Amino acid sequence: MQPPSTTSSAGPSSVRVELGPRSYSAEVGPGVLAAIGGRVRDSLGNRCRKALLVIDQAVPGKFADLAESSLRESGLEVARATLHASEHEKSLHSFGALLQQLAGLRLERRDVLVALGGGVIGDLAGFAAASYRRGIPFVQCPTTLLSMVDASVGGKTAINIDLGPGSGLVKNMAGAFHQPIAVLADTLTLESLEPRQYRCGMAECIKHAMIGADFQDPSLLDWTRRHASSPAQSAEISELITRNVAIKARVVAGDEREEREGAGGRALLNLGHTFGHAIEALPGAQGVLAGGQTLPGEIQHGEAVALGLRAALAAAVRLGSASQEYGALINSLLDSFSLPARASGLPETGAVVDRMRHDKKNLAGSLRLILPCGQGRATVVENPPEQAVRDAIDSIRA
Ligand SMILES: NC(=O)c1ccc[n+]([C@@H]2O[C@H](COP(=O)([O-])OP(=O)(O)OC[C@H]3O[C@@H](n4cnc5c(N)ncnc54)[C@H](O)[C@@H]3O)[C@@H](O)[C@H]2O)c1
Repeated sequence: MQPPSTTSSAGPSSVRVELGPRSYSAEVGPGVLAAIGGRVRDSLGNRCRKALLVIDQAVPGKFADLAESSLRESGLEVARATLHASEHEKSLHSFGALLQQLAGLRLERRDVLVALGGGVIGDLAGFAAASYRRGIPFVQCPTTLLSMVDASVGGKTAINIDLGPGSGLVKNMAGAFHQPIAVLADTLTLESLEPRQYRCGMAECIKHAMIGADFQDPSLLDWTRRHASSPAQSAEISELITRNVAIKARVVAGDEREEREGAGGRALLNLGHTFGHAIEALPGAQGVLAGGQTLPGEIQHGEAVALGLRAALAAAVRLGSASQEYGALINSLLDSFSLPARASGLPETGAVVDRMRHDKKNLAGSLRLILPCGQGRATVVENPPEQAVRDAIDSIRA
């Protein structure tokens, strides 16, 4: 495989996701959204007549207008669906409403759905595209750092299932593998992103850096430590996004449907997520920074991932797969982005372990963890000792 493609200026770059007939490119850089009409035409030809643009209402209107006019200039009829992005909206209800809108607009098999928003919009709209008429083409236009570096690439689409009062959401419990035909990560959209959301994206970048050596970018961790605090509109951040997309592209090219066991498989992307999804799904958890400050409101996905990375590190140190020094290095990198060090409001440890067993990645109630090994590597561990898992949860309890 090629070394990671990187940008030397803030101009656009392109990463190819190699999946045979389902291959596509992810374009990264300022202004790439303006090319969406041409990209759709190149990919789908003249039989594509209509587009549904699914928009996060928090994204400044000028970006939706830009995407719409580019699609119209390419001769497409465009309709819009504007949604409020939250984990509660990544629901059966919103999924059904999108399918109804697609059917009402009479989109056909060669028409296209475009997702313009963060991971919530991308996952929800992607699942609607995967299901409507058993699958129509879709384009991912991610507008958060997290969705640029992770959620928009790789074809996982999903909604959450609500288990009712007191039990909370089970994350991504219904979904499909459905690759986009293109990804357009316009870095100008990051201008309006709240700093807290930007930091959430850094949690996924740190996760990628922790598996970089497994996917041919061993210097990513060191580079991330040196450059990731650069301003959002800098060449360094375009490079950061491009290198992270390249990692994701390699993982997906090697194991599109997460079927490979052990080293090199897509499962390594779940580093921190078994703990993280459980924390995120349990009602009442809140992030607490290393300095003791509690972050307001619900815990965010990237914050839960950061806590999950810390818990996975604690388990890895206890089980001897990573050194204490490596744990300290990653924890201080997470601290440098004001990502939470602990969670308040967690139920008793057994309830968190139960929720982890509920994770859809586990078989027959068994537990599977991804543990960091140091030096940008990680490994899959089936049925780790329960006490190590309990201690790891307690290590992040406020
Ligand atoms: N499919 C995958 O492979 C994959 C991978 C990682 C995460 N995910 C999913 O992605 C979701 C998290 O993604 P996210 O962090 O992007 O969350 P998100 O979509 O909820 O966006 C975070 C917040 O930023 C706002 N926002 C989005 N773009 C903005 C912009 N340009 N300016 C101002 N505000 C903006 C949103 O309205 C929201 O309030 C989770 O549901 C997670 O499960 C999926």
